[in-house]
Amino acid sequence: DQTTVLIIGAGPAGLVLGNLLRAKGIDTLILERGSREHVQARARAGFLGANSARVLTEHGLAAGMLHNGRLHDTCAFRDASGEFELNYGKLGRGEMHTVYPQHDLVTDLIAEYLDRGGELRFGVTVTDVDAETATVRFRHAGGTGEARGRFLAGCDGSNGVTRQAIPAARVTRHARDHGIAWLAVLTQAPQSMAAVTYAMHDNGFAGHMARSPEVTRYYLQVPPGDDPAAWTDERIWAELGVRMRVDQFGPLRQGPVTERRIVHLRSDIIDPIQHARLFLVGDAASLISPSAAKGANLAIMEAEILAGALTDALTRDDDHALASYSRTCLPRIWRAQEFSHWMIALLHGPTRTEPDAGFEHALRRARLDSLRDCRAHQDFFAESYVGI
Ligand code: APR
Repeated sequence: DQTTVLIIGAGPAGLVLGNLLRAKGIDTLILERGSREHVQARARAGFLGANSARVLTEHGLAAGMLHNGRLHDTCAFRDASGEFELNYGKLGRGEMHTVYPQHDLVTDLIAEYLDRGGELRFGVTVTDVDAETATVRFRHAGGTGEARGRFLAGCDGSNGVTRQAIPAARVTRHARDHGIAWLAVLTQAPQSMAAVTYAMHDNGFAGHMARSPEVTRYYLQVPPGDDPAAWTDERIWAELGVRMRVDQFGPLRQGPVTERRIVHLRSDIIDPIQHARLFLVGDAASLISPSAAKGANLAIMEAEILAGALTDALTRDDDHALASYSRTCLPRIWRAQEFSHWMIALLHGPTRTEPDAGFEHALRRARLDSLRDCRAHQDFFAESYVGI
């Protein structure tokens, strides 16, 4: 198999990239391990920042998002001292989120990519990657095979094979396990509050995020290594009630739990995110903890930058943007990491055995006070929360 840009992985990163390249008439082939049904059903993030909404809109990929997505502009923080809301849509740059479940976005992107004449093979697992020749070997139901492009885009997520194709001596890896785990829960229940709500409690963090009129996402901080099966529906709702302080703020609208899985808060960045003919996009380039919902937004940002750089190289013989792809993306990746790290420190109590847990608690209190009272801090929060 021979193509111009060979893309590994049909998540948001690979699909946005593929669509943007097809719009320029560039030949692309996407190889995806999962089946179409599997990737279209995978529940993931749902908060698209302003830049993501712009990219999707400008490139004709936003019909579903504009029709079914919901604008969100407020978040709330709850703890022992009460609750306050931040209407971030009126702070900072005045930007909002669009809430649109990622599997719906992926479904739209696949349909549009095929419409644009893109080639896409499901059930194909890439096993070997050669960055120098932009060649991969793969395995599928019919056996094994080889594919080659002029360029290779590694969009295969955090456990993918493409990032391993950059020689270890050429990269610096920055990996951190934040020592925190969330039980991520999807419930067949309407949202309980108008706003995204972050609750801080001695039992641990709890979060509430609207998803669609019928489905609401909740998070519960749990000990790393906890078994999701140990969390029955009853136990989940009871613990959410405690941490969300329903006695004080009113009940949650309950419904069946349809998905429960443990998410470990990890960061894993490599530098550079390109080598020879290989360019990494999305989680393959940098894994970010979900604490600020930046993962999919970084993927879309990088896909647009890489699409522009590849288009310059292929249609105008101009390699400048391609040569500096990694240098362009990494400062933005680190800004997002920094903000998500700040969110982790805001939302969670002391994680490891701290010599003085009271100190951490007091710092968290001060962070929250500052966010509640200081307009400059609120503006900065709003810009970082919705922006990249
Ligand atoms: N061969 C082929 N496909 C592969 C291989 C492989 N060896 N390894 C992984 N894949 C596929 C996965 O099946 C998946 O569909 O690559 C895709 C990677 O997609 P995502 O994990 O969604 O990663 P990305 O596109 O970078 O998504 C960005 O969205 O919700 C978030 O957690 C997600 O933060 C991430 C973001």
